[in-house]
Amino acid sequence: MLSSKLDTGGTDVASGEIRYYIETFGCQMNQRDSETIAGLLETRGMKPAENPREADVVVVNTCAVRQAAERKVWSRLGEIAAMKPNGREPVIVLAGCMAQLPETLERVKDKVPYVNVLTGPGQLDKIPRLVEEAMDAKTRGVAFQGPLVAVSPRRTEAERSESTQVLPENLPRVKVPGVSAYVTIMYGCDNFCTYCIVPFVRGPQVSRDPRSVIDEVERLAQEGYKEVTLLGQNVNAYGHDLGGNYDFGDLLADLDKVPGLLRIRYATSHPRDFTPKMVDIIRDSEKICEHFHLPVQSGSNRILKAMHRGYTRERYLELVEYIKSQIPGASVTTDIIVGFPGETEEDFQDTLDLVRQCRFDGAFTFIFSPRQGTAAAKMEGQIPHEEKSRRLERLVEVQNSITRENNRRFLGKTVEILVEGPDEREPEHFRGRTRTNRMVICTSGKAEPGQLVHVRIQEVGTWYLKGPMAQD
Ligand code: SAH
Ligand code: SF4
Ligand code: F3S
Repeated sequence: MLSSKLDTGGTDVASGEIRYYIETFGCQMNQRDSETIAGLLETRGMKPAENPREADVVVVNTCAVRQAAERKVWSRLGEIAAMKPNGREPVIVLAGCMAQLPETLERVKDKVPYVNVLTGPGQLDKIPRLVEEAMDAKTRGVAFQGPLVAVSPRRTEAERSESTQVLPENLPRVKVPGVSAYVTIMYGCDNFCTYCIVPFVRGPQVSRDPRSVIDEVERLAQEGYKEVTLLGQNVNAYGHDLGGNYDFGDLLADLDKVPGLLRIRYATSHPRDFTPKMVDIIRDSEKICEHFHLPVQSGSNRILKAMHRGYTRERYLELVEYIKSQIPGASVTTDIIVGFPGETEEDFQDTLDLVRQCRFDGAFTFIFSPRQGTAAAKMEGQIPHEEKSRRLERLVEVQNSITRENNRRFLGKTVEILVEGPDEREPEHFRGRTRTNRMVICTSGKAEPGQLVHVRIQEVGTWYLKGPMAQD
């Protein structure tokens, strides 16, 4: 998971203007939502601040997927409140997934008086009004009786198909600068994997209308974006709730025709809903990248069943096999959880074995974190933390050596990258990604963001490939 800031950097703001700052935790969904929050605040005349110290309004867009993510948010909120810019406390908004948890509201009411507004991901459009109300109350010196709240109704697994309100189309947006833009294609999730809080905090699965998605991607391409990443918790289930038979494969095929765009990515795929038809469409397309992020979570059938994932180890291996047979050179990456309740050493060995068979290019690996309200939090056989940590270490060691070996295959080869800009650590060099999502640092020549460039690989690490520009 990324923890990143939406670059709201602006300068020379005239005095008297209201300045906002947004800090984003969690996944790409949240990053995309932060762009909308910025857009909404700017339509009310607010301007970006360079840092939270200078801001009148600070929005912390939060993640609830693991306890560690929540812990970070609470300590960050404390730091922000302690900054007291110009002797005044800013209006603090706790937005995003944590705002949907009843425990969060309780804690804010009891112990975190400096959080003035709570808004769930389905309520972004309410933020400006609540911020203005809170600012007004502060100016008038009115004491807050708890935060101002806009959250979606609490959802249970039993109410899984109940449709709730989704965000209006065409909300304003301040885009992260760069060559790549996010496009949300669906909201929520109906899967209720037993460990996961997302369906509770993000609500039911609702696909956006294909026409609106295609229009948005066309506009982005016209504005000069070269790459789009389509976002949803389970993009392969796109369209299932729309009532027709238009699905994710159809959407990919339509988007492949958008002029000006060079690359299409998507996240996240669910192995259960990834059909051979989708693989074939990707194989035959021009712009859809040959990178398959397929979270497997576990290599043990017993654990996959307890997780409610809806596929077996064998089906997963078949899918990876099919991808590799149809698209040689395709990159497959994954997410894995260790220490799910009841996971034995044998189950864990099954995971290690699957990792060795799939030879993933990379994996996000996590220690199971019990989330209040999910089925797995109540299951018997919770694994002690030290054991979970040991398993994580063993897994990371196996995966990292596979990643390095996979990268070594590129030594001496030429790869094509889409240039993103200067490398952060070595700004004299520029960097970009291959279609398979490998980070490449180019050590010679010059190129502008958005250009396709060929690089001859001379050095590889776990997380990058490196070399000079290739002479054509
Ligand atoms: N919708 C996506 C991922 C959402 S969360 C999917 O289904 O793949 C991103 C990752 O966080 C998950 O893939 C999972 O590996 C991890 N994760 C989710 N809940 C978790 C929990 N309770 N403890 C540890 N890891 C978790
Ligand atoms: Fe969570 Fe499963 Fe939905 Fe992914 S598919 S968001 S892991 S419930
Ligand atoms: Fe976190 Fe919410 Fe994304 S819980 S992973 S920010 S959907």
